[in-house]
Amino acid sequence: MAESMKGLKRSHRCTEVSAQNIGQTVTIMGWVQRRRNLGALIFTDIRDRSGLLQVVFDENSVGSEGFLKAGTLRSEFVVAVVGKVQKRTAAVNENLKTGDIEVIAEQLRILSEAETPPFPVEENSQTKDELRLKHRYLDLRRPDIQRNLMLRSRAVQLMREFMAREGFLEIETPILCKSTPEGARDYLVPSRVHPGSFYALPQSPQLYKQLLMCSGYDRYFQIAKCFRDEDLRADRQPEFTQADMELSFVDMDEVMEVNERLLQYVFQETIGVELTLPLPRMSWQEAMDRFGSDKPDTRFGMELCNVSELVKDCGFGVFTGALAQGGSVRGINAKGQGAMPRKKIDKLVEFAKGYGAKGLAYLSVQQDGTYKSSFAKFMTEEELAVLVTALNGAPGDLLLFAADQNKIVWNVLGALRLELAKELDLLNPDQYNFLWITQFPLLEWSQEEERFVAMHHPFTMPMEEDWEQVDSNPGAVRAKAYDIVLNGTELGGGSVRIHQNEIQEKMFEVLGFTKESAHEQFGFLLDAFEYGVPPHAGLAYGVDRMVMHMVHADSIRDVIAFPKVKDASCLMTEAPGKVDEKQLAELRLRIEE
Ligand code: AMO
Ligand code: AMP
Repeated sequence: MAESMKGLKRSHRCTEVSAQNIGQTVTIMGWVQRRRNLGALIFTDIRDRSGLLQVVFDENSVGSEGFLKAGTLRSEFVVAVVGKVQKRTAAVNENLKTGDIEVIAEQLRILSEAETPPFPVEENSQTKDELRLKHRYLDLRRPDIQRNLMLRSRAVQLMREFMAREGFLEIETPILCKSTPEGARDYLVPSRVHPGSFYALPQSPQLYKQLLMCSGYDRYFQIAKCFRDEDLRADRQPEFTQADMELSFVDMDEVMEVNERLLQYVFQETIGVELTLPLPRMSWQEAMDRFGSDKPDTRFGMELCNVSELVKDCGFGVFTGALAQGGSVRGINAKGQGAMPRKKIDKLVEFAKGYGAKGLAYLSVQQDGTYKSSFAKFMTEEELAVLVTALNGAPGDLLLFAADQNKIVWNVLGALRLELAKELDLLNPDQYNFLWITQFPLLEWSQEEERFVAMHHPFTMPMEEDWEQVDSNPGAVRAKAYDIVLNGTELGGGSVRIHQNEIQEKMFEVLGFTKESAHEQFGFLLDAFEYGVPPHAGLAYGVDRMVMHMVHADSIRDVIAFPKVKDASCLMTEAPGKVDEKQLAELRLRIEE
């Protein structure tokens, strides 16, 4: 039978006990990691969220009843132990914080017994993800996950502290909302009181925070849950957490400045990484041209090289054909990979096709200076030599080329560059390369909808110097938007917002909204703007992604207590689940078979 802890009070967490406590009596409570019987002595490791502490049971100290009880302990039993701290009698364990001490038990209480867990509760468990997530409450006991969540707590605490010091007010915004314009699919909640009507869960607090600016709160901050019904990936969950902010009477530089100091503070205090300010900035165009990505990982080179001009008159139809269609030809140099076997190159070609490429042309420079290439037969020696020079090719290098519409070429080579870096071990996990990406295009042509859509959202301010082109060349107008990128991940993003009616109306017109449809969706915001609106700007971080980088996790799942899996379900609670007919009837819903 489980015993009560009546009369006992925990004095220390396991690793709070140290050599300084030698000779003192302590009371610790936690889980049994393991038990070893050594004849007259029983050794156990007790675990709590701080770590492990060795407890020794000796009949002379704990009594015969206590000793018998200690013999029944199994992994994951919850116990309370009162005992004296002493220097370790056996060899010191250098790997353990409490490796030089142990506790000689004088009292043992079994607070809870435990079934044998379906997998061992230990660091770096090799257990399959499905099993871990089904028993997430056990998985969460693992020291590595516990460290992740403790660091997450610290990071959020530091952000709150910093923001409060900078004069930001923490204000909560609703979870039951109207649809927000972030562009992903909404999660909907049916209304019982208004049959046929739905709330949307917020994709972000965007509209509310802009309204708060209209209401004069001037610096807002929130740790906000956001919901997006989109395909899951390693850095995407259907519900995730933003550190969200908005500021009045500021322009871009001020938002970036306060955020650089925020990042500097949080990364220093959590993981001791020192950021040198100001952080580097790069325009979107430069990022695409050099890295094929708007979130470039700048820890390594292998930059893209535009060779369109050099191949425009060559005899290779794949290249000239792409150029004739308004596309480009670009390449990267995988240094030292010239000896890559054909099979492996074919794999790269398949990889490229996964990103929309029609093919991938390659040229390897042999040690004797000759070329091996999938397109050499279409080009003269001189033309090939010009290409090799452009990509800084040397004997032993492998050059890879993609020819297509810019968007596809960037996408393909950007992804290939990352893939090769992973394979060639070029990514130093202890290097933190922060980078602002600025001057995004305001609008993006949607092939699907055959109209321009907002790249960020419809309230993003255009750059003043580009705005006059909005009718003649809308695709060329850049936005006052900025993303903060860390080692190839978009950590956060934001923009200066439009606060002038004329610009907002024009923007809606370009996006194909009628006055009525704009009002239907965002009427409350547009109305608010009629009553005095300050210039304002903001930004939001993905907190999960930030912590993922701090702890070197591969997925944000490892820094979220109860994450969902690929099909957006929770393996532990089995959400989403069916509901009663009665509940459906109340909502006037019927499920179509
Ligand atoms: P945005 O849509 O860029 O901007 O989102 C901000 C940041 O949130 C994180 N993020 C996610 N994290 C985990 N899972 C997801 N599914 C997911 N989607 C986004 C990213 C991203 O950079 N309202 C604007 C911000 C603003 O303009 O102020 C917004 O939501 O790290
Ligand atoms: P083909 O003449 O179709 O056999 O193509 C010759 C080489 O060009 C092969 O290595 C193809 O993978 C490559 N290739 C085909 N299409 C493209 C493209 N759009 N961009 C780059 N290389 C391509």
